[in-house]
Amino acid sequence: MPPIAQRARGTQDRGAGEASDIVTHEMYTFRDRGDRSLTLRPEGTAPIVRAYFDGGLDQEPQPARLYYIGPYFRYDRPQAGRMRELHQFGIEAIGESSPQLDVEAILLGWSWFQALGIEGINLRLNSIGDEVCRPAYRERLRDYYRPHLDALGPESRVRFDKNVLRLFDSKDPREQALKRDAPKIVDHLCEPCAQAFALVKQTLTKEAVPYVLDPELVRGLDYYTRTVFEFQHQSLAGAQNALCGGGRYDGLAAALGYRSTPGIGFAAGLDRTALLLKEAKPMTPATPDVYAVALDAQDEPDLLHVAGLLRSRGLRVVVDPGAGRLDAKLRKAARRGVKVTILIGPEEREKGEAVVRDMRSKTQVSVLQRELVSTVIDTLGRP
Ligand code: HAM
Repeated sequence: MPPIAQRARGTQDRGAGEASDIVTHEMYTFRDRGDRSLTLRPEGTAPIVRAYFDGGLDQEPQPARLYYIGPYFRYDRPQAGRMRELHQFGIEAIGESSPQLDVEAILLGWSWFQALGIEGINLRLNSIGDEVCRPAYRERLRDYYRPHLDALGPESRVRFDKNVLRLFDSKDPREQALKRDAPKIVDHLCEPCAQAFALVKQTLTKEAVPYVLDPELVRGLDYYTRTVFEFQHQSLAGAQNALCGGGRYDGLAAALGYRSTPGIGFAAGLDRTALLLKEAKPMTPATPDVYAVALDAQDEPDLLHVAGLLRSRGLRVVVDPGAGRLDAKLRKAARRGVKVTILIGPEEREKGEAVVRDMRSKTQVSVLQRELVSTVIDTLGRP
């Protein structure tokens, strides 16, 4: 392992990739009052890989499954959906190369957007090979573009030299036809990469997650190998349409100076997700399973205790605190649509009991508090 000072110097750049957009023109770098050059972190994956080794997680059972959430900084021209201070929530699974982990990551992202009720998510999927098949493919792509260099814009010409795969990110209208006819890496994968990609696609199909194969998806960071993916949404404008992006990065640890170690993950853009949520229909609050009412202030500690027991079993319990008429509280419970209300009054407290009221049949029973959990679960399970 390289010494800390050496790792601290410039590893952020190497992590993101020297030819990535982030390093070429998005680094948020400035001089502080001590005339030191500072760079704000642009993304979370390279730092997580460093933390994984520096914190000894590589010595724990593998893979390590990690998550992070926080602000990141990129110095690009701000516009709707593109901030200089952006927020991401991300996950990484490090230390295992099974393609099933790729699927696990994709499914997690998918179910997150489902849970938020965001419709119209478009999952784009590609494989960009590895150090075995990519070098030959890169040459093939260069050979294809070389006779057309004059037709490329200045940014694409730099990409031709530094990272030819990124020519697929070009939005220049004059380059679109060239791009369409260019050889695609999915057609030039080595056998292990092709097998891994086939497994990812098969498992996603089995899990009924719709995806679109996008042979032009190469992602803006240089560290990816094999599976890459993005969750996009058409209502976000053009180049800013990615809500979440990720992929496998089996070469990143070695590029940072550590032992070669595979990894996979994604980061979701919280600012863009929030923009979409603003437009989506308001979410209706989840209906609680149980409404809990104390008849008297002195009954509230008992009520809080039993509410805690029910919550520890995974039930959603709303406690209605404070004084109030019982019938008014029952009306509130009915308006929330709950199936079960529990009540504790002085008599129940004295006997160590609670009343379980089935809100649909409007019947109720008194049970010992220690039998409350099973009675509530039984009542909830009734048709
Ligand atoms: P990324 O594609 O650069 O990937 O960013 C992930 C997400 O962050 C994007 O899909 C987008 O929603 C959001 N985002 C990026 N830049 C901006 C911006 N300027 N303004 C608003 N939102 C933005 C990564 O950062 C990788 N570290 C993801 C990853 C994790 N790959 C493997 N593990």
